[in-house]
Amino acid sequence: MMPDANVSMSQSSTHKRRRGSFRNRIAFYLLAIGSACGLGNIWRFPYVVGENGGGAFLLVYIFLSLTIGLSVLIAELIMGRTNEASLLKITRKVSVQNKKSFFWFGRLSLFISLVILAYYSVISGWVLHFLTQFLVGLFRSDRMHYLGNISMNVLNENGLLQFALASVHLLICGFIVLRGVTERFEKILTAVLPLFGILVFLILTRSLSLPSSPEVLRFLFYPDFSKLNLTSLGHAMGHVLFTLSLGMGVLVTFGSYFKEDEHLPTLGVRVTLVDTIISIVAVLMIFPIAFSISNKPLTDPSLLFEALPQLFLKIEYGEYFGLAFFLCLWVAALNASIALLETLISNLSDRFQQANRFSAAWLVILVTLFLTVFPAFSGTLFKNIKLLNQSLIENLDSVLINYLLPISVLGMIIIFFKSINEIDYKEKFVNESSESSQMLVKNWIWVLKWLAPFLIILGLILQFFSVIKNSFLK
Ligand code: PFF
Repeated sequence: MMPDANVSMSQSSTHKRRRGSFRNRIAFYLLAIGSACGLGNIWRFPYVVGENGGGAFLLVYIFLSLTIGLSVLIAELIMGRTNEASLLKITRKVSVQNKKSFFWFGRLSLFISLVILAYYSVISGWVLHFLTQFLVGLFRSDRMHYLGNISMNVLNENGLLQFALASVHLLICGFIVLRGVTERFEKILTAVLPLFGILVFLILTRSLSLPSSPEVLRFLFYPDFSKLNLTSLGHAMGHVLFTLSLGMGVLVTFGSYFKEDEHLPTLGVRVTLVDTIISIVAVLMIFPIAFSISNKPLTDPSLLFEALPQLFLKIEYGEYFGLAFFLCLWVAALNASIALLETLISNLSDRFQQANRFSAAWLVILVTLFLTVFPAFSGTLFKNIKLLNQSLIENLDSVLINYLLPISVLGMIIIFFKSINEIDYKEKFVNESSESSQMLVKNWIWVLKWLAPFLIILGLILQFFSVIKNSFLK
Protein backbone atom coordinates (compact mmCIF):
# COMPACT_ATOMS: atom_id res chain seq x y z
CA MET A 1 0.00 0.00 0.00
CA MET A 2 1.21 3.49 -0.74
CA PRO A 3 1.49 6.08 1.99
CA ASP A 4 -0.25 9.45 2.07
CA ALA A 5 -2.07 8.43 -1.03
CA ASN A 6 -4.61 11.22 -0.96
CA VAL A 7 -2.02 13.92 -1.03
CA SER A 8 0.42 12.37 -3.37
CA MET A 9 -1.63 10.79 -6.08
CA SER A 10 -3.92 13.61 -6.95
CA GLN A 11 -1.45 16.45 -6.77
CA SER A 12 1.09 14.62 -8.85
CA SER A 13 4.79 15.12 -8.66
CA THR A 14 5.48 18.52 -10.03
CA HIS A 15 7.35 19.52 -6.93
CA LYS A 16 9.24 17.45 -4.41
CA ARG A 17 7.35 18.76 -1.38
CA ARG A 18 4.06 17.81 -2.95
CA ARG A 19 4.72 14.11 -2.82
CA GLY A 20 3.90 12.56 0.52
CA SER A 21 6.58 11.04 2.68
CA PHE A 22 6.54 8.17 5.11
CA ARG A 23 5.41 8.87 8.63
CA ASN A 24 7.84 6.70 10.44
CA ARG A 25 10.44 4.21 9.63
CA ILE A 26 8.77 1.11 11.07
CA ALA A 27 5.53 1.70 9.21
CA PHE A 28 7.60 2.37 6.13
CA TYR A 29 9.46 -0.93 6.42
CA LEU A 30 6.28 -2.84 7.20
CA LEU A 31 4.63 -1.42 4.11
CA ALA A 32 7.57 -2.17 1.84
CA ILE A 33 7.85 -5.71 3.19
CA GLY A 34 4.07 -6.06 3.23
CA SER A 35 3.76 -5.34 -0.48
CA ALA A 36 6.41 -7.95 -1.29
CA CYS A 37 5.18 -10.68 1.03
CA GLY A 38 1.82 -12.14 0.22
CA LEU A 39 0.18 -14.97 -1.65
CA GLY A 40 3.27 -15.23 -3.84
CA ASN A 41 5.30 -16.48 -0.89
CA ILE A 42 2.73 -18.54 0.97
CA TRP A 43 0.51 -19.87 -1.79
CA ARG A 44 2.49 -19.83 -5.06
CA PHE A 45 6.06 -20.56 -4.05
CA PRO A 46 5.49 -24.01 -2.43
CA TYR A 47 3.75 -25.53 -5.46
CA VAL A 48 6.24 -23.96 -7.88
CA VAL A 49 9.05 -25.60 -5.89
CA GLY A 50 7.10 -28.88 -5.94
CA GLU A 51 6.55 -28.59 -9.68
CA ASN A 52 10.24 -27.97 -10.32
CA GLY A 53 11.65 -30.80 -8.28
CA GLY A 54 12.74 -29.26 -4.95
CA GLY A 55 16.28 -28.48 -3.78
CA ALA A 56 18.10 -27.60 -7.01
CA PHE A 57 15.31 -25.23 -8.02
CA LEU A 58 15.39 -23.66 -4.56
CA LEU A 59 19.10 -22.91 -5.01
CA VAL A 60 18.52 -21.30 -8.41
CA TYR A 61 15.71 -19.27 -6.89
CA ILE A 62 17.82 -18.01 -3.97
CA PHE A 63 20.67 -17.09 -6.34
CA LEU A 64 18.36 -15.14 -8.67
CA SER A 65 16.60 -13.44 -5.79
CA LEU A 66 19.80 -12.15 -4.22
CA THR A 67 21.38 -11.01 -7.48
CA ILE A 68 18.80 -10.04 -10.09
CA GLY A 69 15.77 -9.54 -7.83
CA LEU A 70 17.69 -7.37 -5.39
CA SER A 71 19.42 -5.29 -8.09
CA VAL A 72 16.21 -4.59 -10.02
CA LEU A 73 14.35 -3.79 -6.82
CA ILE A 74 16.95 -1.16 -5.88
CA ALA A 75 16.92 0.21 -9.44
CA GLU A 76 13.11 0.61 -9.43
CA LEU A 77 13.17 2.42 -6.07
CA ILE A 78 15.97 4.76 -7.19
CA MET A 79 14.21 5.42 -10.49
CA GLY A 80 11.04 6.51 -8.66
CA ARG A 81 12.92 8.61 -6.13
CA THR A 82 15.16 10.39 -8.67
CA ASN A 83 12.41 11.13 -11.17
CA GLU A 84 9.77 11.77 -8.50
CA ALA A 85 7.14 10.29 -10.74
CA SER A 86 5.37 7.07 -11.58
CA LEU A 87 6.46 4.81 -14.40
CA LEU A 88 4.14 6.07 -17.14
CA LYS A 89 5.30 9.63 -16.67
CA ILE A 90 8.95 8.55 -16.63
CA THR A 91 8.60 6.59 -19.89
CA ARG A 92 6.95 9.64 -21.45
CA LYS A 93 9.86 11.84 -20.37
CA VAL A 94 12.39 9.32 -21.73
CA SER A 95 10.51 9.04 -25.02
CA VAL A 96 10.46 12.81 -25.51
CA GLN A 97 14.15 13.16 -24.60
CA ASN A 98 15.28 10.37 -26.89
CA LYS A 99 12.78 11.02 -29.66
CA LYS A 100 11.94 7.33 -29.59
CA SER A 101 8.86 5.54 -28.37
CA PHE A 102 9.53 3.97 -25.00
CA PHE A 103 5.87 4.27 -24.07
CA TRP A 104 5.16 0.66 -24.68
CA PHE A 105 7.41 -0.36 -21.76
CA GLY A 106 5.26 1.66 -19.39
CA ARG A 107 2.07 0.45 -21.01
CA LEU A 108 3.13 -3.18 -20.96
CA SER A 109 4.00 -2.97 -17.31
CA LEU A 110 0.65 -1.40 -16.42
CA PHE A 111 -1.22 -3.93 -18.51
CA ILE A 112 0.57 -6.69 -16.56
CA SER A 113 -0.33 -5.00 -13.26
CA LEU A 114 -3.96 -4.88 -14.28
CA VAL A 115 -4.17 -8.55 -15.22
CA ILE A 116 -2.13 -9.59 -12.18
CA LEU A 117 -4.50 -7.61 -9.96
CA ALA A 118 -7.43 -9.53 -11.47
CA TYR A 119 -5.69 -12.88 -11.04
CA TYR A 120 -4.51 -11.99 -7.54
CA SER A 121 -8.07 -11.00 -6.59
CA VAL A 122 -9.37 -14.43 -7.62
CA ILE A 123 -6.77 -16.20 -5.45
CA SER A 124 -7.50 -13.76 -2.61
CA GLY A 125 -11.13 -14.81 -3.08
CA TRP A 126 -10.07 -18.42 -2.43
CA VAL A 127 -8.50 -17.28 0.85
CA LEU A 128 -11.70 -15.44 1.69
CA HIS A 129 -13.65 -18.65 1.05
CA PHE A 130 -11.51 -20.66 3.49
CA LEU A 131 -11.67 -17.82 6.00
CA THR A 132 -15.47 -17.79 5.93
CA GLN A 133 -15.60 -21.59 6.13
CA PHE A 134 -13.52 -21.56 9.31
CA LEU A 135 -15.68 -18.76 10.69
CA VAL A 136 -18.93 -20.59 9.93
CA GLY A 137 -17.42 -23.79 11.35
CA LEU A 138 -16.98 -22.14 14.75
CA PHE A 139 -20.73 -21.67 15.08
CA ARG A 140 -21.71 -25.22 14.19
CA SER A 141 -22.27 -28.07 16.57
CA ASP A 142 -20.67 -30.53 14.12
CA ARG A 143 -17.67 -28.23 13.83
CA MET A 144 -14.92 -30.78 13.20
CA HIS A 145 -16.97 -32.77 10.74
CA TYR A 146 -17.86 -29.58 8.86
CA LEU A 147 -14.27 -28.36 8.74
CA GLY A 148 -13.09 -31.80 7.67
CA ASN A 149 -15.13 -31.43 4.51
CA ILE A 150 -13.88 -28.07 3.30
CA SER A 151 -11.88 -28.33 0.15
CA MET A 152 -11.18 -26.64 -3.15
CA ASN A 153 -13.91 -28.67 -4.87
CA VAL A 154 -16.67 -26.18 -4.05
CA LEU A 155 -14.63 -23.41 -5.64
CA ASN A 156 -13.49 -25.48 -8.61
CA GLU A 157 -17.07 -26.27 -9.50
CA ASN A 158 -18.47 -22.81 -8.99
CA GLY A 159 -17.09 -20.01 -11.17
CA LEU A 160 -19.74 -17.59 -10.01
CA LEU A 161 -18.66 -18.03 -6.40
CA GLN A 162 -15.04 -17.35 -7.38
CA PHE A 163 -16.11 -14.24 -9.28
CA ALA A 164 -18.25 -13.03 -6.37
CA LEU A 165 -15.43 -13.53 -3.85
CA ALA A 166 -12.91 -11.78 -6.10
CA SER A 167 -15.34 -8.88 -6.53
CA VAL A 168 -15.80 -8.55 -2.78
CA HIS A 169 -12.01 -8.50 -2.35
CA LEU A 170 -11.54 -5.89 -5.06
CA LEU A 171 -14.36 -3.68 -3.83
CA ILE A 172 -12.91 -3.72 -0.30
CA CYS A 173 -9.55 -2.62 -1.78
CA GLY A 174 -11.34 0.15 -3.67
CA PHE A 175 -13.16 1.22 -0.53
CA ILE A 176 -9.93 1.44 1.48
CA VAL A 177 -8.16 3.40 -1.25
CA LEU A 178 -11.01 5.74 -2.11
CA ARG A 179 -12.40 6.48 1.32
CA GLY A 180 -8.96 7.54 2.47
CA VAL A 181 -8.91 4.97 5.26
CA THR A 182 -5.46 3.81 4.26
CA GLU A 183 -4.04 5.10 7.55
CA ARG A 184 -6.46 2.99 9.54
CA PHE A 185 -5.65 0.01 7.36
CA GLU A 186 -1.93 0.62 7.92
CA LYS A 187 -2.55 0.35 11.67
CA ILE A 188 -4.39 -2.95 11.20
CA LEU A 189 -1.55 -4.17 9.03
CA THR A 190 1.06 -3.18 11.62
CA ALA A 191 -0.78 -5.37 14.13
CA VAL A 192 -1.54 -8.23 11.77
CA LEU A 193 1.88 -8.80 10.22
CA PRO A 194 3.70 -9.61 13.50
CA LEU A 195 0.75 -11.83 14.52
CA PHE A 196 1.04 -13.60 11.18
CA GLY A 197 4.76 -14.10 11.83
CA ILE A 198 4.03 -15.73 15.21
CA LEU A 199 1.32 -17.95 13.73
CA VAL A 200 3.55 -19.10 10.90
CA PHE A 201 6.31 -19.88 13.40
CA LEU A 202 3.94 -21.99 15.52
CA ILE A 203 2.57 -23.86 12.51
CA LEU A 204 6.12 -24.37 11.23
CA THR A 205 7.30 -26.00 14.47
CA ARG A 206 4.26 -28.26 14.53
CA SER A 207 4.64 -29.13 10.88
CA LEU A 208 8.34 -29.94 11.21
CA SER A 209 7.54 -32.36 14.04
CA LEU A 210 5.57 -34.56 11.61
CA PRO A 211 7.23 -37.88 10.70
CA SER A 212 7.53 -36.77 7.07
CA SER A 213 9.94 -33.92 7.80
CA PRO A 214 13.25 -35.81 7.23
CA GLU A 215 12.00 -36.69 3.74
CA VAL A 216 11.05 -33.04 3.18
CA LEU A 217 14.42 -31.76 4.36
CA ARG A 218 16.14 -34.15 1.95
CA PHE A 219 13.87 -33.03 -0.89
CA LEU A 220 14.64 -29.37 -0.21
CA PHE A 221 18.24 -29.28 0.94
CA TYR A 222 19.82 -32.15 -0.92
CA PRO A 223 19.74 -30.70 -4.42
CA ASP A 224 19.30 -33.07 -7.31
CA PHE A 225 20.39 -31.09 -10.35
CA SER A 226 19.06 -33.70 -12.75
CA LYS A 227 15.58 -32.42 -11.82
CA LEU A 228 16.26 -29.07 -13.47
CA ASN A 229 14.86 -28.77 -16.98
CA LEU A 230 14.38 -26.26 -19.77
CA THR A 231 11.75 -24.32 -17.87
CA SER A 232 13.43 -24.16 -14.44
CA LEU A 233 15.39 -20.94 -15.03
CA GLY A 234 12.36 -19.11 -16.46
CA HIS A 235 10.08 -20.34 -13.66
CA ALA A 236 12.53 -19.30 -10.96
CA MET A 237 13.09 -15.92 -12.61
CA GLY A 238 9.35 -15.28 -13.02
CA HIS A 239 8.65 -16.14 -9.43
CA VAL A 240 11.46 -13.92 -8.10
CA LEU A 241 10.09 -10.95 -10.07
CA PHE A 242 6.51 -11.64 -9.02
CA THR A 243 7.21 -12.13 -5.34
CA LEU A 244 9.35 -9.00 -5.12
CA SER A 245 6.63 -7.07 -7.03
CA LEU A 246 9.05 -6.12 -9.82
CA GLY A 247 8.28 -5.12 -13.40
CA MET A 248 4.91 -3.61 -12.50
CA GLY A 249 5.94 -0.11 -11.55
CA VAL A 250 4.90 -0.69 -7.92
CA LEU A 251 8.36 0.02 -6.52
CA VAL A 252 8.85 2.99 -8.84
CA THR A 253 5.75 4.60 -7.35
CA PHE A 254 6.92 3.52 -3.90
CA GLY A 255 10.36 5.07 -4.50
CA SER A 256 8.79 8.37 -5.49
CA TYR A 257 7.41 8.72 -1.96
CA PHE A 258 10.60 8.09 -0.05
CA LYS A 259 12.32 10.72 1.99
CA GLU A 260 15.62 11.99 0.72
CA ASP A 261 17.58 10.61 3.70
CA GLU A 262 16.41 7.00 3.33
CA HIS A 263 19.14 4.76 1.94
CA LEU A 264 17.23 2.75 -0.66
CA PRO A 265 19.79 -0.07 -1.23
CA THR A 266 19.66 -0.90 2.50
CA LEU A 267 15.88 -1.05 2.32
CA GLY A 268 16.15 -3.20 -0.81
CA VAL A 269 18.47 -5.70 0.89
CA ARG A 270 16.17 -6.03 3.90
CA VAL A 271 13.01 -6.45 1.83
CA THR A 272 14.66 -9.07 -0.40
CA LEU A 273 16.05 -11.02 2.55
CA VAL A 274 12.78 -11.04 4.46
CA ASP A 275 10.85 -12.02 1.33
CA THR A 276 13.22 -14.88 0.50
CA ILE A 277 13.22 -16.18 4.08
CA ILE A 278 9.41 -16.09 4.23
CA SER A 279 9.18 -18.08 1.00
CA ILE A 280 11.52 -20.76 2.36
CA VAL A 281 9.62 -20.86 5.66
CA ALA A 282 6.35 -21.29 3.71
CA VAL A 283 7.76 -24.33 1.93
CA LEU A 284 9.03 -25.81 5.20
CA MET A 285 5.63 -25.22 6.76
CA ILE A 286 3.55 -26.78 4.00
CA PHE A 287 5.64 -29.64 2.61
CA PRO A 288 5.70 -31.87 5.72
CA ILE A 289 1.89 -31.79 5.75
CA ALA A 290 1.67 -32.39 2.00
CA PHE A 291 4.14 -35.27 2.26
CA SER A 292 1.92 -36.91 4.88
CA ILE A 293 -1.13 -36.83 2.59
CA SER A 294 -1.41 -40.05 0.60
CA ASN A 295 -1.84 -38.53 -2.86
CA LYS A 296 0.26 -35.42 -2.28
CA PRO A 297 -0.83 -32.39 -4.31
CA LEU A 298 2.76 -31.00 -4.40
CA THR A 299 2.59 -29.58 -7.89
CA ASP A 300 -0.92 -28.26 -7.70
CA PRO A 301 -2.07 -24.64 -7.13
CA SER A 302 -4.44 -26.02 -4.50
CA LEU A 303 -1.51 -27.26 -2.38
CA LEU A 304 -1.79 -24.64 0.38
CA PHE A 305 -5.57 -25.02 0.63
CA GLU A 306 -5.51 -28.81 0.61
CA ALA A 307 -2.62 -29.20 3.03
CA LEU A 308 -2.97 -26.65 5.82
CA PRO A 309 -6.55 -27.44 6.93
CA GLN A 310 -5.39 -31.05 7.44
CA LEU A 311 -3.00 -29.84 10.11
CA PHE A 312 -5.52 -27.50 11.72
CA LEU A 313 -7.91 -30.41 12.11
CA LYS A 314 -5.33 -32.39 14.04
CA ILE A 315 -4.14 -29.83 16.56
CA GLU A 316 -5.82 -28.50 19.66
CA TYR A 317 -7.70 -25.25 18.97
CA GLY A 318 -6.88 -25.88 15.32
CA GLU A 319 -10.11 -24.22 14.19
CA TYR A 320 -9.00 -20.95 15.80
CA PHE A 321 -5.54 -21.29 14.28
CA GLY A 322 -7.14 -21.87 10.89
CA LEU A 323 -9.36 -18.84 11.24
CA ALA A 324 -6.48 -16.61 12.37
CA PHE A 325 -4.16 -17.92 9.65
CA PHE A 326 -6.56 -17.31 6.77
CA LEU A 327 -7.51 -13.92 8.22
CA CYS A 328 -3.86 -12.82 8.34
CA LEU A 329 -3.22 -14.23 4.88
CA TRP A 330 -6.18 -12.33 3.51
CA VAL A 331 -5.03 -9.05 5.13
CA ALA A 332 -1.59 -9.60 3.55
CA ALA A 333 -3.26 -10.24 0.18
CA LEU A 334 -5.38 -7.13 0.65
CA ASN A 335 -2.28 -5.06 1.30
CA ALA A 336 -0.54 -6.36 -1.81
CA SER A 337 -3.65 -5.76 -3.92
CA ILE A 338 -3.93 -2.21 -2.61
CA ALA A 339 -0.30 -1.60 -3.63
CA LEU A 340 -1.17 -2.67 -7.17
CA LEU A 341 -4.37 -0.66 -7.26
CA GLU A 342 -2.58 2.44 -5.96
CA THR A 343 0.13 2.04 -8.57
CA LEU A 344 -2.39 1.91 -11.36
CA ILE A 345 -4.31 4.92 -10.05
CA SER A 346 -1.10 6.84 -9.41
CA ASN A 347 0.11 6.21 -12.94
CA LEU A 348 -3.15 7.33 -14.49
CA SER A 349 -3.34 10.47 -12.35
CA ASP A 350 0.34 11.29 -12.87
CA ARG A 351 0.20 10.80 -16.59
CA PHE A 352 -3.15 12.42 -17.32
CA GLN A 353 -3.22 15.46 -15.10
CA GLN A 354 -6.89 15.97 -15.80
CA ALA A 355 -7.88 12.45 -14.60
CA ASN A 356 -9.21 12.75 -11.10
CA ARG A 357 -8.35 10.09 -8.59
CA PHE A 358 -11.92 8.98 -8.11
CA SER A 359 -12.62 8.32 -11.80
CA ALA A 360 -9.19 6.75 -12.28
CA ALA A 361 -9.88 4.36 -9.40
CA TRP A 362 -13.31 3.37 -10.71
CA LEU A 363 -11.96 2.85 -14.19
CA VAL A 364 -9.24 0.53 -12.84
CA ILE A 365 -11.68 -1.36 -10.60
CA LEU A 366 -14.23 -1.90 -13.37
CA VAL A 367 -11.66 -3.08 -15.91
CA THR A 368 -10.12 -5.38 -13.30
CA LEU A 369 -13.54 -6.78 -12.38
CA PHE A 370 -14.11 -7.61 -16.02
CA LEU A 371 -10.72 -9.33 -16.23
CA THR A 372 -11.40 -11.49 -13.15
CA VAL A 373 -14.07 -13.30 -15.18
CA PHE A 374 -11.36 -15.26 -17.05
CA PRO A 375 -9.50 -16.82 -14.12
CA ALA A 376 -12.70 -17.16 -12.08
CA PHE A 377 -14.54 -19.20 -14.72
CA SER A 378 -11.46 -21.05 -15.93
CA GLY A 379 -12.62 -24.38 -14.45
CA THR A 380 -16.27 -24.06 -15.47
CA LEU A 381 -17.41 -21.84 -18.35
CA PHE A 382 -13.97 -21.83 -19.98
CA LYS A 383 -12.96 -25.35 -19.04
CA ASN A 384 -12.59 -26.41 -22.66
CA ILE A 385 -10.11 -23.67 -23.42
CA LYS A 386 -6.87 -25.56 -23.01
CA LEU A 387 -3.43 -24.84 -24.31
CA LEU A 388 -0.49 -27.23 -23.91
CA ASN A 389 -2.74 -29.35 -21.76
CA GLN A 390 -3.17 -26.56 -19.24
CA SER A 391 -6.29 -24.72 -18.12
CA LEU A 392 -6.93 -21.05 -18.80
CA ILE A 393 -5.89 -19.98 -15.29
CA GLU A 394 -2.65 -22.00 -15.50
CA ASN A 395 -1.82 -20.46 -18.87
CA LEU A 396 -2.64 -17.00 -17.58
CA ASP A 397 -0.29 -17.50 -14.63
CA SER A 398 2.47 -18.82 -16.83
CA VAL A 399 2.22 -16.17 -19.58
CA LEU A 400 2.03 -13.32 -17.08
CA ILE A 401 4.67 -14.40 -14.62
CA ASN A 402 7.10 -16.51 -16.62
CA TYR A 403 7.07 -14.53 -19.87
CA LEU A 404 5.59 -11.02 -19.62
CA LEU A 405 7.08 -10.00 -16.26
CA PRO A 406 10.67 -10.78 -17.35
CA ILE A 407 10.11 -8.85 -20.60
CA SER A 408 8.73 -5.93 -18.61
CA VAL A 409 11.77 -6.00 -16.31
CA LEU A 410 14.05 -5.81 -19.36
CA GLY A 411 12.15 -2.65 -20.35
CA MET A 412 12.44 -1.35 -16.79
CA ILE A 413 16.23 -1.72 -16.88
CA ILE A 414 16.42 0.20 -20.18
CA ILE A 415 14.21 3.00 -18.81
CA PHE A 416 16.34 3.10 -15.65
CA PHE A 417 19.55 3.79 -17.57
CA LYS A 418 17.82 6.23 -19.93
CA SER A 419 16.06 8.22 -17.23
CA ILE A 420 18.92 8.75 -14.77
CA ASN A 421 22.50 9.74 -15.42
CA GLU A 422 25.42 7.76 -14.04
CA ILE A 423 26.43 10.31 -11.42
CA ASP A 424 22.91 10.38 -10.02
CA TYR A 425 22.34 6.67 -9.70
CA LYS A 426 25.80 6.08 -8.27
CA GLU A 427 25.25 8.84 -5.76
CA LYS A 428 21.91 7.36 -4.70
CA PHE A 429 23.46 3.92 -4.30
CA VAL A 430 26.58 4.85 -2.37
CA ASN A 431 26.25 5.63 1.28
CA GLU A 432 29.17 7.76 2.56
CA SER A 433 29.26 5.91 5.85
CA SER A 434 29.21 2.44 4.33
CA GLU A 435 32.29 1.09 2.62
CA SER A 436 30.42 -1.92 1.34
CA SER A 437 28.09 0.24 -0.74
CA GLN A 438 31.13 1.81 -2.43
CA MET A 439 32.40 -1.64 -3.29
CA LEU A 440 29.04 -3.01 -4.35
CA VAL A 441 28.02 -0.22 -6.69
CA LYS A 442 30.05 -1.72 -9.56
CA ASN A 443 28.55 -5.18 -9.02
CA TRP A 444 25.06 -3.72 -8.93
CA ILE A 445 25.54 -1.97 -12.26
CA TRP A 446 27.13 -5.10 -13.76
CA VAL A 447 24.16 -7.22 -12.71
CA LEU A 448 21.73 -4.69 -14.20
CA LYS A 449 23.63 -4.24 -17.46
CA TRP A 450 24.78 -7.79 -18.13
CA LEU A 451 23.73 -10.59 -15.81
CA ALA A 452 20.03 -9.71 -15.57
CA PRO A 453 19.45 -9.25 -19.33
CA PHE A 454 21.50 -12.38 -20.10
CA LEU A 455 19.67 -14.67 -17.66
CA ILE A 456 16.25 -13.21 -18.43
CA ILE A 457 16.72 -13.73 -22.18
CA LEU A 458 18.22 -17.19 -21.64
CA GLY A 459 15.26 -18.15 -19.42
CA LEU A 460 12.80 -16.98 -22.07
CA ILE A 461 14.58 -18.82 -24.89
CA LEU A 462 14.80 -22.07 -22.92
CA GLN A 463 11.11 -21.92 -22.04
CA PHE A 464 10.29 -21.28 -25.65
CA PHE A 465 12.27 -24.38 -26.68
CA SER A 466 10.46 -26.40 -24.08
CA VAL A 467 7.09 -25.32 -25.52
CA ILE A 468 8.24 -26.28 -29.02
CA LYS A 469 9.61 -29.59 -27.78
CA ASN A 470 6.38 -30.46 -25.96
CA SER A 471 4.09 -29.40 -28.78
CA PHE A 472 5.81 -30.66 -31.88
CA LEU A 473 8.55 -33.09 -31.03
CA LYS A 474 6.56 -35.58 -28.99
N1 PFF B 1 4.64 -9.68 -4.18
C1 PFF B 1 3.30 -10.15 -4.02
C2 PFF B 1 3.30 -11.54 -3.47
O1 PFF B 1 4.36 -12.16 -3.43
O2 PFF B 1 2.25 -11.99 -3.08
C3 PFF B 1 2.57 -10.12 -5.33
C4 PFF B 1 2.37 -8.74 -5.75
C5 PFF B 1 1.73 -7.88 -4.93
C6 PFF B 1 2.88 -8.31 -6.90
C7 PFF B 1 1.60 -6.56 -5.25
C8 PFF B 1 2.73 -6.98 -7.24
C9 PFF B 1 2.12 -6.14 -6.38
F1 PFF B 1 1.96 -4.88 -6.70
